[in-house]
Amino acid sequence: MKRSIVVSGIRPTGNLHLGNYFGAVRNFLSMQEDYTCFFFIADIHSLTTHPHPDNLQASVRQVLAEYLACGIDPEKAAIYIQSDVPEVLELYTYLNMNAYLGELERTTSFKDKARKQPDNVNAGLLTYPVLMAADIIIHKAHFVPVGKDQEQNLEMTRKFAQRFNHMYGARVFPKPKPFTFDGKEPIKVPGLDGSGKMGKSEGNAVNLFDDPKDIRKKVMRAVTDAGPTEMDSAKPEPIQNLFTLMNIVSNPEVAKHYDEAYAKCEIRYGDMKKQLAEDIIAVTAPIRQRIIEILSDEAYLSRVARQGAEKARESAAATMKEVKKLIGFKSLF
Ligand code: ADP
Ligand code: TRP
Repeated sequence: MKRSIVVSGIRPTGNLHLGNYFGAVRNFLSMQEDYTCFFFIADIHSLTTHPHPDNLQASVRQVLAEYLACGIDPEKAAIYIQSDVPEVLELYTYLNMNAYLGELERTTSFKDKARKQPDNVNAGLLTYPVLMAADIIIHKAHFVPVGKDQEQNLEMTRKFAQRFNHMYGARVFPKPKPFTFDGKEPIKVPGLDGSGKMGKSEGNAVNLFDDPKDIRKKVMRAVTDAGPTEMDSAKPEPIQNLFTLMNIVSNPEVAKHYDEAYAKCEIRYGDMKKQLAEDIIAVTAPIRQRIIEILSDEAYLSRVARQGAEKARESAAATMKEVKKLIGFKSLF
């Protein structure tokens, strides 16, 4: 019996990349076997950046197809689009009454975004963590699989959940914890530009939907150096990143072969990159194929979205019934 509840969302702001896949979505595949899972596309969150209506629709479809192509199974998990579950917005409104300006202004994600879009510091940006809390606690989640960058938001979720419980003297909401696999840190996938992690906005990503030709081009352009001159020398960051990627996507013997070549100063980066590109393609090509198939099946996408919305709304409505009663709402008719 599946007892613990897991919730995770992803903003529809671009194609899924290898970082999203190995750092997040691939883990969802085993979670959906063991937990009651709610995976959703955070289209309401994405409004903070004012997407064009046509782009919003297209991005939501794309991410839904990509999730499904990765193996998220709508029979096992609830996979839905946030805006199809309006109960979330209702809970968001109630939680906003107990979320304070000071604490919202202090969150690093707000400060970052306010810096990145100084002409559009809207209230939705400020209350982003409140909406995220509503997403999570509306299903009474116990675990949330997110990366390091979301830890503060999750901490705020716990705060808002406890505040509500305390205010109404009830234990409606559990305290959601970050999900970890046997206490291990989630994989961090480096970018191809020689520094930091792979990310949508960093321009250093390989997307699951990229065609093999583009992947070869992107990998061959990755930063390298003149090669080691001393035996067994340490690898500088851009080189280490290539090895880290190889460790993630390639066969262990292949990775070992290049590692030994590096140690003996016999490494040929051109060969290594060719191999890396092919190994990445071996992961992405079948997924890309499925994305294309799913995108062409309008009826399937529509069925999945409806089924997900129904599961999510059932769970959300049950929570909202309790919440409204606790708040003191009682209809006069
Ligand atoms: P991006 O950084 O490209 O904007 P998101 O912030 O939308 O990606 O992340 C969605 C999920 O993918 C999060 O759970 C995040 O932790 C994970 N993720 C994103 N980039 C990486 C990466 N390079 N390595 C591992 N996990 C990642
Ligand atoms: N804030 C998350 C991100 O930027 C996306 C998100 C929205 C989310 N609501 C959530 C993640 C609820 C987990 C649970 O990646």
